[in-house]
Amino acid sequence: MKKKVFSGVQPSGNLHIGNYLGAIRNWVEVQGQYENVFCVVNAHAITVPQEPAVLHAKTREVAAIYMACGIDPEESVVFVQSHVPAHFELTWMLNGITPMGWLNRMTQFKEKAGEERESVSTGLFDYPVLMASDILLYDADLVPVGSDQTQHIELTRDIAQRFNYLFGDTFKLPQALVRETGARIMALDEPTKKMSKSSESPMGAVDLLDTPDAIKRKIMRAVTDPLRGIAFDPERHGLFNLLTIYQLLSGSSRDQIESHFEGKGYAELKRELVDLVVESLRPIQERYAQIMAEPQYLEDVLARGAERASVISEAKLRQAKEHMGLL
Ligand code: AMP
Ligand code: TRP
Repeated sequence: MKKKVFSGVQPSGNLHIGNYLGAIRNWVEVQGQYENVFCVVNAHAITVPQEPAVLHAKTREVAAIYMACGIDPEESVVFVQSHVPAHFELTWMLNGITPMGWLNRMTQFKEKAGEERESVSTGLFDYPVLMASDILLYDADLVPVGSDQTQHIELTRDIAQRFNYLFGDTFKLPQALVRETGARIMALDEPTKKMSKSSESPMGAVDLLDTPDAIKRKIMRAVTDPLRGIAFDPERHGLFNLLTIYQLLSGSSRDQIESHFEGKGYAELKRELVDLVVESLRPIQERYAQIMAEPQYLEDVLARGAERASVISEAKLRQAKEHMGLL
């Protein structure tokens, strides 16, 4: 029996190379080894304001990007979260057994809510319970994500354990699958912060659909430091981040990269990184354009994905309802 994988990305803002290197690329790498479900988590996106037409379009865009990056919808289930109502139903059931204190400890909520704690939506607070439902409905063993999501997966285990204790064995306890390198790509213009879709500054993230010109502009202006020498020094945040991106896209080792850039400066590194990023994204962008040129094909993939996901999740939901006394 193959182990099961579940993961997802929100269709809010533009997907960037942090999403690719921290998450989607790793999904593609393990695709053959596991049974996979990949979701476009649009119900997570509506925990902050979204323009309906934009959300609808972005949802398709993200699904197309999954496929352009190498997710094969024949092999893996690809679907849109809101097309499968079990996610909403289980969230409400798990809300009944999740203490407020557990959610109060979530660092992502604290960061996102900030000073606005009283005015952000209830959904933003409850977001990790929806995420737990996503994962638990599919009996996922492994959840490949960037390191910002590990706390949510720990919480998912706690919720599953509590449900199993209260109502009998129902849910499998999942584990995060986080790579050592690339789990936290930093913003180019502010390398002490993670690269993010929601950042106000467009210079922080290289988006997967950026033109070569935009990629060049962003990387050439990336913040570094006044020191000399190209080395993987985690204390030199900006440089370390550029070198990490270089390492992941080139497949070279750190030693090889350091000797390659020996005696060279930032300008040289940045120029080579621009070429590497442009060439790495080119095939993805080409496939993306092909997929988007056939909107009916994409709709068919998502309809079929929702059917397959419903079969799995409905069975689990039914079991959970039975155990809770809801049937
Ligand atoms: P999100 O953009 O919050 O929908 O995240 C989607 C996936 O990308 C999750 O697995 C995140 O952990 C991952 N991710 C987001 N930002 C980064 C980043 N800067 N570096 C590495 N992984 C990231
Ligand atoms: N919360 C995740 C993020 O922002 C996205 C997500 C929602 C997810 N449900 C999930 C990731 C289930 C993995 C598994 O990155």
